[in-house]
Amino acid sequence: MAGVAAPASPATPAGAAKPAGGWGTGGLSTEAARLRRRFPTVADLAAQARRRTPRFAYDFVAGGVNDDLGLVRNRRALDAIEIVPRYGLDVRSVTTETTLFGRGYALPVGVAPMGLAGLLWPDADESIARAAQRARIPYVMSTVANTSIERIAAIAPDVFWYQLYNVPENDHAVSLDLIRRAQAAGAHALVLTMDVPVRSKRVRDVRNGLVVPFRPTLRTAWDVAWAPGWALAMLRKGQPRFRNFEAYLGPDASTADLASFVFQKMTGPLTWDSVARFREAWSGPLIVKGILHPDDAETAVALGADGILVSNHGGRQFDAAPATASALPAIVERVGGRATVLVDGSISSGLDLLRVLGRGAVSAFAGRAFLMAYAAAGEDGVDHVVRLFTEELRVALAQSGAAAMGVTLGAAPGAAGGPAAPHHHP
Ligand SMILES: Cc1cc2nc3c(=O)[nH]c(=O)nc-3n(C[C@H](O)[C@H](O)[C@H](O)COP(=O)(O)O)c2cc1C
Repeated sequence: MAGVAAPASPATPAGAAKPAGGWGTGGLSTEAARLRRRFPTVADLAAQARRRTPRFAYDFVAGGVNDDLGLVRNRRALDAIEIVPRYGLDVRSVTTETTLFGRGYALPVGVAPMGLAGLLWPDADESIARAAQRARIPYVMSTVANTSIERIAAIAPDVFWYQLYNVPENDHAVSLDLIRRAQAAGAHALVLTMDVPVRSKRVRDVRNGLVVPFRPTLRTAWDVAWAPGWALAMLRKGQPRFRNFEAYLGPDASTADLASFVFQKMTGPLTWDSVARFREAWSGPLIVKGILHPDDAETAVALGADGILVSNHGGRQFDAAPATASALPAIVERVGGRATVLVDGSISSGLDLLRVLGRGAVSAFAGRAFLMAYAAAGEDGVDHVVRLFTEELRVALAQSGAAAMGVTLGAAPGAAGGPAAPHHHP
């Protein structure tokens, strides 16, 4: 993994071997350099993921809700952020190290929770978690991951955060047990997702006839026929299971039993009452995810949240929701250092990271970028995205001049200085 703490010339790609001589990096022969040539951007990885996977699986990950407007809005808002560079400064010493809730991480980006990631490619959760542990970036495990809390804790002990969807039945018996298990397994932070009061209408999934477990129809069989590598991997590994719920249904529960349990019991809004209750049950850092209104951020802080994750679920829940980069500044202002403000939504480069840090986020999260990279190039692909983010953030920090401004990434709430705050328009 890239030694991100070491000062480095931004012109040297992180993790790449020393060039043999001459200008350019085209001749490098390491695996890292090969991936860098083949997939210079996250978009290249997504294109490869699309070629390797059946349409219903790719669309499930890539898609938003309704007309995908929120998804597009997230990207456009990031693209619209300008940063006026400052020159003539000594920007040779660049570090991307970040502190979050008292822990050091290598980069101001983590892996956002993604349920049913194993549909895009088997073993996605465990492979991405392993890569996150290597890279020292936060890994947020979804309640509806295709592995268990205990497995992720073993794989990624230093970077493991847990995301909860509520299971309200029996006075939240299962929700509270999931919190207990996460705490026992050593999860560093608990993330409560607020933005799924109801299931949303993911038009692509409806159109593609997506069901879990997968049932072959003429249409889905046709999709699979074009993705033989995916079909083989699925045959070898079996269909993705919601493994966190095996503890409640027993190891003999079928994939269909687990899916029905999730569909029927994991429903309804996570209310502020529940946030208060889960706050009591959890002794570590608590993050409330899916916040877009400053008043909701205020409520979360009043209930004892340590972090606010500004998110619209990657444009997957409410198509009229504002872009997260647009909603961010008002929330940063309202929170005023009382909690750590985080953000996600279409983050796909190191420049995107600097853009949201400049708007006051302490760190960002990315979902699809990591999952697409895994489907495109396996665990090496995830390592590669981390190197891309690192390299691009270093360049952006140097190019903007932020690197010379005594900027500390990941400042603790209330600390003077704060995260990178380069000048930006508008
Ligand atoms: C395939 C997929 C599954 C997701 N599952 C969850 C989940 O289980 N829990 C959750 O809080 N958010 C979930 N999200 C939302 C992400 O955590 C995150 O907010 C969003 O994906 C960020 O946008 P990006 O993917 O464009 O980076 C999911 C997103 C995707 C793409």
